[in-house]
Amino acid sequence: MSFVSHLECSQTGAQYPHDRFRSVSDANAPLLVRYDLEAMKAAISKETLATRAPDMWRYLEWLPIEGPDRIVSLGEPMTPLLPLNRLADGQVIVKDEGRMPTGSFKARGLAIAVSMAKAFGIDHVAIPTAGNAGAALGAYCSRAGIRSTVFCPDDAPETTIREIAFHGADTYRVNGLINHCGEIVASGTEQVGWLDLSTLKEPYRIEGKKTMGLELAEQLGWDLPDVIFYPTGGGTGLIGMWKAFEELAAMGWVGSKRPRMIAVQSTRCGPLVKAFDEGHDEVKEPWTNAETVIHGVRVPKPFGDRLCLKVMRESNGLGSMVDDYEVIEARAAIARKEGIHLSIEGAACFVAWRQEVKSGRINSGDRAILFNCASGLKADLPPVETRIDHTRPIDYSRFR
Ligand SMILES: Cc1ncc(COP(=O)(O)O)c(C=O)c1O
Repeated sequence: MSFVSHLECSQTGAQYPHDRFRSVSDANAPLLVRYDLEAMKAAISKETLATRAPDMWRYLEWLPIEGPDRIVSLGEPMTPLLPLNRLADGQVIVKDEGRMPTGSFKARGLAIAVSMAKAFGIDHVAIPTAGNAGAALGAYCSRAGIRSTVFCPDDAPETTIREIAFHGADTYRVNGLINHCGEIVASGTEQVGWLDLSTLKEPYRIEGKKTMGLELAEQLGWDLPDVIFYPTGGGTGLIGMWKAFEELAAMGWVGSKRPRMIAVQSTRCGPLVKAFDEGHDEVKEPWTNAETVIHGVRVPKPFGDRLCLKVMRESNGLGSMVDDYEVIEARAAIARKEGIHLSIEGAACFVAWRQEVKSGRINSGDRAILFNCASGLKADLPPVETRIDHTRPIDYSRFR
């Protein structure tokens, strides 16, 4: 038994039953899962929670899964908090989601979405992806015995494209951006009959991403941080974490303090930052010529734009666009100085933090969480050309 009460349209508030699968609302807006929070409050305590296994499923009451036997899992651990002690004063903390199955936080959302798809008897799902979501989908679908079809931009990171196919998903490179992939998936819903698991085109992925907020709150002793930097593409993490904080507050588990939510994007693709700065409540036009190496944020017009902008405003947050070259340099510097191999998206959060402290929009003493959403090993690394011929005398002076 779950504590879900209904599904709710994020735009109109219209309610829908949760006992059958529904993609979006009648207003074509994302659906949010709503829970009986009073009943949850009576059913679970912080003390009980503290005794559970250190994985994502410790938050089962906050999830739409009907019971432990409905879980499709690859072993989703709680991810560590790593303070930056040399590049900052320890108050800047990386949440390292690279430890998740398939090396990214996409595992959280897709573990829930695939568990729900299986419970609803769905046998074929499809997704557009910048790479990581496709890899997670392929893995969880193989685990669940569900067929998966994945479309990604043909210039997505090579390792990830191969990873998707390696997990058994039918994998297609598309000569366009994620929105073009999304159009193919949407049209295939009628023509092929697969289920569209695109970001926010179904209500459950965001529930998985919500566990990042629950976990963060618990790891910090239920004292939420001052500010969260999140590399924002479709925005599920931003929306999911905010939902977590609201649910915890409604249960009386956290007070009224909320982190400022910072959407980190690229100067080469920053539709949410632009819309926020211009005072809009949606992205008016898709970003043109989206060419950034920060692949996870290369979403010209996110479907959940209104929800993301709402979170940024309600949290007194902001948007920060970073320069791709600065991010590449920062990623290398963090690996050398802190021993932490961030994804390019994670490094973007560090650059945004540095930039916004400099701009004065963020206080340098604030406790800041930087989301490293994927393992650094997913991206290409610079080649090494220093060679040694072991058959010849070695000049040891070069090592001194
Ligand atoms: C590593 C990484 N960071 C960030 C994002 C953006 O995530 P979201 O869609 O939740 O905004 C993605 C999405 O592809 C990603 O793969």
